[in-house]
Amino acid sequence: MAAKSKILVVGVTGYIGKFIVKASAEAEHPTFVLVRESTVSHPEKSKLIDTFKSSGVTLLYGDLNDHESLVKAIKEVDVVISTLGGQQTDDQVKLIAAIKEAPPRDKAVILGDGNVQAVYVSEEDVGTYTIKAADDPRTLNKTLYLRPPSNILSLRQRLRKSTFQKINFLRTSREVSTNYEIDPSSCVEASEIYPEVKYTSVDNYLNAFV
Ligand SMILES: NC(=O)c1ccc[n+]([C@@H]2O[C@H](COP(=O)([O-])OP(=O)(O)OC[C@H]3O[C@@H](n4cnc5c(N)ncnc54)[C@H](OP(=O)(O)O)[C@@H]3O)[C@@H](O)[C@H]2O)c1
Repeated sequence: MAAKSKILVVGVTGYIGKFIVKASAEAEHPTFVLVRESTVSHPEKSKLIDTFKSSGVTLLYGDLNDHESLVKAIKEVDVVISTLGGQQTDDQVKLIAAIKEAPPRDKAVILGDGNVQAVYVSEEDVGTYTIKAADDPRTLNKTLYLRPPSNILSLRQRLRKSTFQKINFLRTSREVSTNYEIDPSSCVEASEIYPEVKYTSVDNYLNAFV
């Protein structure tokens, strides 16, 4: 079974938060709680925090108004659950800002050997080629493939061109396996029959996000 997500709960000394912590620990999620340092010395709340600790929960000090403390805590986990009170509803954007900062941008997972190639075509180019084919007798009863030659890359080649952040965006473009041959009797390739189309290269596509 896959490892359970590491969960950070914020607002754990509140009315609802303690139940979320209990459920998380009982479900055997590695559970972390963010608590303000000043709260630990509160007579009632300190007892609650002790029960968290005795059920294996990890205590992290932090404050919604201390950005660095949020980023540090969020880096420890996979999931953040906010049970901050109604008065902090708007201030939860501070949590979102910290979550955005926390994900690693220098790591990428390579599945398999990373050498299988795929074709990348921007959505705009898919539209352009498709409409060009609509009235083109050369495509009649044929399959139109979109395989711009300079956009055929393996994951490893793609990583060399990109930061991790950019890779995430790249996934939104069309990504198609190259694991097939184009049969010229029944198929045509778009960049060959429409050389006038200056299709978006992977480099240009990625540059839009720099
Ligand atoms: N209460 C209800 O009956 C009820 C029912 C249904 C749904 N809800 C919803 O459940 C959610 C939680 O509400 P609640 O009533 O449980 O909240 P709550 O009792 O007011 O608890 C607020 C929590 O936020 C923490 N907190 C406040 N300011 C903080 C800061 N600057 N940094 C870090 N932590 C801070 C508090 O910690 P400290 O101990 O340090 O102050 C406390 O743990 C809300 O969305 C609410 O609408 C509540």
